[in-house]
This record gives sequence, structure tokens and C-alpha cells, in this order.
Amino acid sequence: MTHTVTEGADAEQLRSRIAAELERTRARTALLTEVVDDADLMRQHSPLMSPLVWDLAHVGNQEELWLVRDVGGREPVRCDIDDLYDAFKQPRRDRPSLPLLPPTEARAYVATVRDKVFDLLDRVAFDSRPLVADGFAFGMIVQHEQQHDETMLATHQLRSGPAVLQAPPPPEPTVRPAGEVLVPAGPFVMGTDADPWALDNERPAHRVELAAYLIDAAPVTNGAYAEFIADGGYDDPRWWSEQGWLHRQEAGLSAPLHWRRDGDGWAYRRFGRWSPVRADEPVVHVCYHEAQAYASWAGKRLPTEAEWEKAARWDPATGRSRRYPWGDDDPTSAHANLGQRHLWPAPVGAYPAGASPLGVHQLIGDVWEWTSSTFRGYPGFVAFPYREYSEVFFGDDYQVLRGGSFGTDRAACRGTFRNWDYPIRRQIFSGFRCARDADAEQARR
Ligand SMILES: [Fe+2]
Repeated sequence: MTHTVTEGADAEQLRSRIAAELERTRARTALLTEVVDDADLMRQHSPLMSPLVWDLAHVGNQEELWLVRDVGGREPVRCDIDDLYDAFKQPRRDRPSLPLLPPTEARAYVATVRDKVFDLLDRVAFDSRPLVADGFAFGMIVQHEQQHDETMLATHQLRSGPAVLQAPPPPEPTVRPAGEVLVPAGPFVMGTDADPWALDNERPAHRVELAAYLIDAAPVTNGAYAEFIADGGYDDPRWWSEQGWLHRQEAGLSAPLHWRRDGDGWAYRRFGRWSPVRADEPVVHVCYHEAQAYASWAGKRLPTEAEWEKAARWDPATGRSRRYPWGDDDPTSAHANLGQRHLWPAPVGAYPAGASPLGVHQLIGDVWEWTSSTFRGYPGFVAFPYREYSEVFFGDDYQVLRGGSFGTDRAACRGTFRNWDYPIRRQIFSGFRCARDADAEQARR
């Protein structure tokens, strides 16, 4: 990593950008925790999730540890609660039985921490210390809180009771992306050295050589997925991996999470409201095993992580890797369905301005996309700022997901951003697209 010193007007600009990001993020956290009452905040809505009040104080506790204590070198606000809000020490299923701060106290705690952080932000020198260069630790804390905001949104999707969240529907399609896109053989640069707030697992940038492949122009839709179900896909072990089939049997999987039969078709429950399943929306709430089985049934496979990233970032005109499919500019509402502006994926074809140069649509936003790759460090990986951020998760247990969902904020979503989860998880906003090897004739084109 290169560590630049930011001074003068540039430092002031960085300060105001960080302040704006912190405030924007906190507004989201506040909304997600203010739309329900105190009893609801303290309740565990699923053994997979924390009570919302745990997420709230945990966000503040991480901010205190990294910014107030580490960067600022200040006295602790509350060191008596560090263990309670340590995600490694407290498994999610146990969190409701902990002596958690009640909502009023949790809100006061995060507000006190935030006041100290703003005070610190006014004075901090963005020197070459790795933690403060380019405002990295502040960016890490913004991303951390945004990731919890997505987790809290997933908790909202699991909670029962009347609907409390409101948002306008996503835009309607204006184009009809269909079929597959050929990505020619050759090298591309994967990962980044340049994005100042990129996390350790996205680094370093490195050259990857890929054979020619075809990738779906859009994520797999509900309509296509319903055909897999109607064709008996869930009852045919041919399509499933051995592990996937075992899980399908044990968990009794028969459709995506939150779906139920509705006459001849299907309905889904989204944030407390039932509606008919819409055929042209990307399928969401499927686990890796379901994605993999669908791909086999379709005569395809899931893309590797490198294939996903090349489709998303590689510019055939220059050979360069972009930050996003559309270029280097930050996402706007015209590019992608991000940031909880809408509460579900947009129909395929709703974001033509967000397509990659090769014509691959909706790689960013809408649904996290399962890849066939397990979570590993890139060649030359260096843990930063601590091993627990990524390195302890490397290995065969986790599958990588890419691209972010409608619940992901732009601050936690880049062409290089990597998410990981267990292959059985589907309470997250996960979907997928398929890929396959190009045949010899296609590869020559
Ligand atoms: Fe966390």
C-alpha cells in the first residue's frame, strides 16, 4: 500500500467528505432502528440475526475502538461493554440473552461516541500512518456501519408483524438484456491498489489470465428460477452437489426463502407484505447450493470470482480495469439499485446506464451474486488493520458473493468489493447469474 499525506485544502475536503459519509450512514441506521418499538429492537427475529439493538451499540463500539481510542488516542467512553459487542466472542444465537444496553442507553452511547469522532475529525492529521492515510480508518468505520445497516435490513425482512419500512418501487425496464455475453480470453487486472478505502481482501491489484467464457447478460430471474422448480429441480439430485443435496434434504428446501404457492404461481413476502412473484426480477434469497443446482440444470455453471470481476471491470477498448462496470464515477441512482432506495431488486433491464462495456447488466446492486470461488487472499495479501477483518475467514468454508444488493450502500460496494458467506445462507439478499466455458469457435471470435 502507498500512504500519501493529505494536507491543506485537500485535507479539508477529505474532512468534509468523511463527515458527510458518517452522517448519511447514521441517518440510515437511525431509520432502521426508529421504525420499530423498544420491545421489537430487543427481540431476536431469527437465530441467524442479532437483536437490532445489538447491531446499533456494536456499530458504536467499533467506532469507539478504532477511531476514539486507536486513531484519537483518547480515553475509552465505555470499556465495560467491549466484550458484549465483540462479534467473535458473542455468537449471534446468544446475543439476545446478553445484558445488552437498552435502546435509550444504546442511542445515547452511539451519540457520545459520534460527538468525540467529529471532534477528532476536526483535528486529525491525515499523515502517512497507515490507519489515517487517506482517512482509511474513517472509511472503514463508514463501511462497517453500512454493512450492519444491510444486516439490519435483512433482520427487518425476517421479522414478523405489520410492515414498517416504506420505499418507492425500483424503476421499470427500458431495455431487454437477454442471453449471454462472450468475454474473450486474456489477462485483466483483478483487485486494487488505488482505491483508498478498499479493504485488505481487495488488495493487491494482480494480473489474472482467463480463458474465453460466456456470462449471462443479467442475473437469473424469478421467471427462469420458477421453471427450474416446475421442472422438478428441487427433487432431482442430478443437479445438486453432494453437499448441496444433503442440505436440500435436511433443510427441506423447495423454493427461495420467503416464497409460497399462490394458485398456479408464487407469492413472496417482502418486508411484511405479500405480493405475486414478478417474473422479470432477479431471484433473491437463494443459497449457494440452490444457485449451483439451477446452473447445472440450465447446462451452465456459476462464474468464478475472477470471471465475475472481469465481466464487471474490464474495458476491452483500453484493457484497463474500471472501478465499476460503467466507469470510474461513483454510483448514482441511474447506474444501480443500491442504498436501500428501493426495498427489492429492480426488473432486468432497469439500469442500462450501469451496463459494462461488453453489455453485462446489473452487476452492481439488486442482488449479491454467488460465485463458485471460496474466499482466499489474493497473491501478496497483507492483513490490515487486523487479521480478524478477513484473514480468519479464508479457506473452504465461505463462498464469495459479488456486486452488492439493493440493501448495500455505495460506500460498501465497488467492482473490487468482496463479500463472503456460508453456502447454506439465504437470509441475505443473494441471487446469481450463470456462466459457461466458450467453445472453440466462440473462443476464436
Ligand atoms: Fe461488525
